[in-house]
Amino acid sequence: MSPNHPTKNTKYTKSAKKIWLEWTRSHGMEAAHTMTTITKPRGTTEDDITAEVLRRFDATAQPRLRDIMQSLVRHLHAFVKDVELTEGEWMTAIQFLTKTGHMCDDKRQEFILLSDTLGVSMVVDLINHRKPEGATESTVFGPFHRDGAPELPAGGNIAPRDKKGVPTIVSGRVLTLDGGPIAGAWLDVWQADSSGLYDSQYAGTDELHLRGRFRSDEDGRFLIRTVRPVYYAIPTDGPVGRMLSATNRHPWRPAHIHFVVSAEGCEPVTTHIFDDADPYLESDTVFAVKNSLMCTFVRHDSRDEDAARFGVEPPFCTARFDFVLKPALR
Ligand SMILES: [Fe+2]
Repeated sequence: MSPNHPTKNTKYTKSAKKIWLEWTRSHGMEAAHTMTTITKPRGTTEDDITAEVLRRFDATAQPRLRDIMQSLVRHLHAFVKDVELTEGEWMTAIQFLTKTGHMCDDKRQEFILLSDTLGVSMVVDLINHRKPEGATESTVFGPFHRDGAPELPAGGNIAPRDKKGVPTIVSGRVLTLDGGPIAGAWLDVWQADSSGLYDSQYAGTDELHLRGRFRSDEDGRFLIRTVRPVYYAIPTDGPVGRMLSATNRHPWRPAHIHFVVSAEGCEPVTTHIFDDADPYLESDTVFAVKNSLMCTFVRHDSRDEDAARFGVEPPFCTARFDFVLKPALR
């Protein structure tokens, strides 16, 4: 029990006790559970406030929630003290977060964008998805995934309306850690078009484009028709864009295709494959690049074997990438 926890001998003023009892009864709580004694001296320094805020979370029933709240308070207070935050800066932060929330709807997720551009998403990803040697590494989910992508057959085209992009065939296998094929794995795929925009960024339409769900065959193979991904800027018309501009950071992401690959008995992986020739690999604005996710997009300018095999006219690209899933935890 903390030293300030009320006991049967604790003295309260009559009015404070009455208010407390009424409030706890109205909330169905046990009286005197977390009440602060009014005889306790009030904190007068920044550190006193920090200590008192931490103490108020002592009685949190869930240990994990208590740990998270107390750590959050410790770090948040330390940050405010470290930079000696002015009242004007505090209000700017409140307005920034308010605008970030107002920017969110069913198509736009400015908070994920903020998390991504602050590197928080990648730290969370690394903590939560430590992979054994050989398993495909994960990376950020990003703000552009949408439910409802169509299920397509092997070789299905996710970019039928993109006439400017370079036709591209992405193929590979879904494998276990020991190299065996995984049949019937799901590959949920999405990417930006050849103008660097996702379907949800076009005004006036809800149509899905450059999205699809594929299944691996009995040998674990998959085949996807798309267009070559291009580098693109994350949306800069909101508070995150203003933050990047104010801090002299660029908004570019290297060319990539998003995947969520899942299979029965395996841990799903949320990841990208990156074009290994992209100029922004070293400075991805969301810090998501990993060496193991590099993929070579080979350009074909003649009617070669692959053109005949895939039924495409040059110029086109082929890219090959195998996904390796680790077993799910039991
Ligand atoms: Fe993306």
